[in-house]
Amino acid sequence: MAHHYSAFPGMDDILPGESEKWQWLEEKARFLLSSWGFREIRTPLLEPTELFTRSIGETTDIVHKEMYTFKDRGERSMTLRPEMTASVARAVIEHGMLKTSKSLALYYSGPMFRAERPQAGRKRQFHQIGAELINVAREGEPYYADGTLIRLLADFLDYLKVKNVRFRLNDLTLINGAQAEVVRKKLRDYFEGHKAKLDSDSVYRLDKNVLRIFDSKIPETRAIIRDVPWDSIAPYPAEFLKLVQTLKAGFGESVSFEVDRTLVRGLDYYTGVVFEVASGALGAQDALAGGGRYDRLYEDLGGSSTPCTGFSIGVERLLMVLEKNEPSIAKQMNEKLLYFAFLFPDRYHAQFKNLQISARCLMERGFKVIVAEPSPKLGDHLKRAANFGAAYAIILGEQEVVNKNWTVKNMISGEQVPVSELLTHFLSVS
Ligand code: HAM
Repeated sequence: MAHHYSAFPGMDDILPGESEKWQWLEEKARFLLSSWGFREIRTPLLEPTELFTRSIGETTDIVHKEMYTFKDRGERSMTLRPEMTASVARAVIEHGMLKTSKSLALYYSGPMFRAERPQAGRKRQFHQIGAELINVAREGEPYYADGTLIRLLADFLDYLKVKNVRFRLNDLTLINGAQAEVVRKKLRDYFEGHKAKLDSDSVYRLDKNVLRIFDSKIPETRAIIRDVPWDSIAPYPAEFLKLVQTLKAGFGESVSFEVDRTLVRGLDYYTGVVFEVASGALGAQDALAGGGRYDRLYEDLGGSSTPCTGFSIGVERLLMVLEKNEPSIAKQMNEKLLYFAFLFPDRYHAQFKNLQISARCLMERGFKVIVAEPSPKLGDHLKRAANFGAAYAIILGEQEVVNKNWTVKNMISGEQVPVSELLTHFLSVS
């Protein structure tokens, strides 16, 4: 008997009906990121394992428990990328990209792999859209690139009409910078004083990497984390507080920015401002995007000292938010979707050529068009237009040819109007 195969748990097929949403989102991302001057980079799915162990950190959950690692036929240890910041750094160094440009603004989009327990919003193969600002710095403004990047992320979410997002920010400069040893010792001393109440994982982390204690979800440990006397251990730099104020003033009520001392992120390469964006429209896995500054990664990977900051957005989670959003993704996607209904049976009719030229003209102006098979049955056309979710049906039949115009039907209101110049008409209604 033939065997039936299924995709691995947590690794989803993206079928027609869904794939259009992915295309729409990816197009929007490309459009916005390139308008901010970012250029795309694509790197292999497989990388040398050591690239990730060195950059993300041996004691992180990602490296410790979640990487898909195996040996190839040449006995090389390879890993399916769990994230792309390290791959981008590897590529920038390998190709000497900073020799020809002083700084780089790069973006990427693609699948990542983490062997986590699958649940809503948590996949083993998931997708990220990410952006990295590499070697961007301004004298006298140490938080310049951080501010730029956070504004870009907020602008992207606003461009997609996503509302009610919450940014949490922290500054790891003191914890991970030049004074890291002193600060970490103070943190270790603090947790040492509460060792009896810490969970066993946290006791292990106390010696290995004290910051990873902040990943604990155990209530007793969370209570100890909450009471860390930060002002004596690592007070915030004034520039960081100024950055938060400026962001708050810039976005008003529409986006919230909160400071969160316990935000250390699940990767070890961060050295300065870190942030996460959460959405109320998501369930338990509410992190929509995350990122931060990582000024030592390039040196750790054999490059020269390079200040960097970046973020990645989870595409599956963003799509979940967009489904629940008002306007929903379907509404946003279809507002520029036009369906051409050609009511003559003969495809090669001179009028059909004319229709194709008009359709292409609209396509080039950013409209999405569907040119259906010619059929004399208007009812069939309208049914198909509705199935596609088209905003308008553009009808060309006998009557229209005689009158030298088109009939444009609004698929939501049902209203029909004669139109002689399609492009002028749609540019004025969209
Ligand atoms: P991250 O926080 O590990 O950061 O991932 C970023 C986003 O990817 C998360 O906020 C979430 O939306 C999504 N994500 C992560 N794991 C999963 C999963 N198992 N299933 C579905 N979605 C997931 C990074 O990856 C860093 N590279 C961000 C960065 C860029 N930092 C500097 N530059």
